[in-house]
Amino acid sequence: MTRIRAVACSNIALAKYWGKASVAENLPATPSLSLTLAGLRTITEVEIDPDLGRDHVQLDGVELTERPLERVVQLLDRLRARAGTSRFARVVSRNDFPTAAGLASSASGFAALALAGARALGLDLSLEALSDVARASSASAARSLFGGFAALPAGGRTAERVAPGDHFPLSMVVTLTAKGPKAIGSTQGMQHTATTSPYYAPWVSHSPALFDAVKRGVLERDFERLGTAMEQSALMMHASMLAASPAVIYLTPTTLAVMAAVRELRARGTPAFYTMDAGPHVKVLTLPEHAARVAACVEGVPGVERTIVTGAGPDAALTDEDPRSLP
Ligand code: DP6
Repeated sequence: MTRIRAVACSNIALAKYWGKASVAENLPATPSLSLTLAGLRTITEVEIDPDLGRDHVQLDGVELTERPLERVVQLLDRLRARAGTSRFARVVSRNDFPTAAGLASSASGFAALALAGARALGLDLSLEALSDVARASSASAARSLFGGFAALPAGGRTAERVAPGDHFPLSMVVTLTAKGPKAIGSTQGMQHTATTSPYYAPWVSHSPALFDAVKRGVLERDFERLGTAMEQSALMMHASMLAASPAVIYLTPTTLAVMAAVRELRARGTPAFYTMDAGPHVKVLTLPEHAARVAACVEGVPGVERTIVTGAGPDAALTDEDPRSLP
């Protein structure tokens, strides 16, 4: 039996991926650029057991069934095909952040699974090759193999490193807002947007310009340029969803109140910008010296449950840490 453990951090897109160039191959229609976050980790253990008749997967203590199980099996199937084996696996995975709160856990989850699964099946793949494996399951996961700033081009199969985290030290104040009604998943939400929203095409055609501005902001350490383009990327993505029929609405009154608080902070001289994904939470990007003030401010907004203040995380890596030891 071979037992391998890997750790990967989740990432927040500063320039968003929303829409697919190919649904069959899961290729993104828009170029995206993200910051991998140290404070949002998944540890995954994969044990290949010749006695198993199928894959068994446990996430945060719960045995997966149906579609969530199928997505894990499909990734393992791709690795098994590459390794020329048909052996099954026992997978135990845990997030050190609240999955139920609707934070993107598929990114770190599929990245950690790709690395641990590949090694357990005897494959020694590069981060780029693992990124391709993870991307086929969830495109945002392609970026989580890389620490710091990573990009996934439009139509791209593998993410690439843009800059290490210490190139431009930033803080992300992940602001968890009270949960609203159960939201539609990102895969379904983006497909619905692509097929029904008249704003989808303009979003896709404008996204490279926003990606370029975000990338330049990172490379030139220009926080104003980065933050401005980051907010516009999030808002344009949400505008495309709002114009879908029926509308896809992830933003709640608390989301809007946090956005207003960030704008207010900025007006008073604190450099801070927001971004939102397929959920009601707000991620506020700021410079490390302002992170405590930003967190205190958004925690005062009614409806905010808590914040996680974090910065750039490392590449996905093998680890000795037991996922069962996570709280
Ligand atoms: C809003 O990567 O979850 O977080 O490829 O269908 O699994 P699939 O979608 P997913 O979409 C993430 C969308 C986003 C923006 C982003 O992370 O770029």
